[in-house]
Amino acid sequence: MKTERFGRTLHLYDRIESTNAVALALAEQGAAEGTVILADSQTQGRGRMGRRWISPPNVNLYVSIILRPDRDPDRIGLWTLSAAVGAARAIEQAAALPARLKWPNDVLIHHKKISGLLLESAIQGGEIKHLVLGIGLNVNLFRELLPESLRDSVTSLREELGHELDRIELLQRLLEQLELQYQSFRTEPLHKILEAYVPLSDTLGQTVRVRSPGGEWTGKATGLTADGDLIVQRTDGREKVFRSGDVIHVRPSHAARD
Ligand code: BTN
Repeated sequence: MKTERFGRTLHLYDRIESTNAVALALAEQGAAEGTVILADSQTQGRGRMGRRWISPPNVNLYVSIILRPDRDPDRIGLWTLSAAVGAARAIEQAAALPARLKWPNDVLIHHKKISGLLLESAIQGGEIKHLVLGIGLNVNLFRELLPESLRDSVTSLREELGHELDRIELLQRLLEQLELQYQSFRTEPLHKILEAYVPLSDTLGQTVRVRSPGGEWTGKATGLTADGDLIVQRTDGREKVFRSGDVIHVRPSHAARD
């Protein structure tokens, strides 16, 4: 593995509640930046917006990384976009599949979700104490292992390629690409992150429905702010900016009905 810090210390578990939960606890105890927690399965895998991340054994990657960037906490959103770019590049490198991104940080192959990222943070006195970046990547999962409600919207590398992939090799590419993204996030001007993210976005230019704590909003995803927030414009011209939320890509025919 060609990383300097990511995964140089690695905690490996067969079965664990959630790699993010363990990473947060280790970070609290002072674990070094770049420490990776890897599990073969999770009993309470966490997803975004309080959802569950289905985490069966022997098939996927469930990874968390401890980070301590010296950046303004308001810029954390940009880091999740940047990390999604890293995950997409790792998939392209290891599997030669065209990975695209659904805002903010879902990785899609042929419009189906293959990977999700969950960033959890500890902020103290207006500064980042530590961050934990959690990534779930469906590698050798068979669709039948998923609940029926997810089978049309979720995929795995095996489903897409028709053969198994080596999880260790994928993990290596993933950590390398994430470390590269993290170095740019820490050292380069922040607009560079958006420049890398925008060409991979499947959301921009699309009609979307955004569910956020403030309610639902349907319109065209017209752009991103400098902080990576999503700008959505309704047909009546009214605009809303989302810092977080759940995006559904809607077909134009659905949008017309809304
Ligand atoms: C999403 O909802 O798309 C984010 C899913 C993140 C899942 C990963 S699996 C490894 C890490 N540990 C967790 O409990 N969640 C993240």
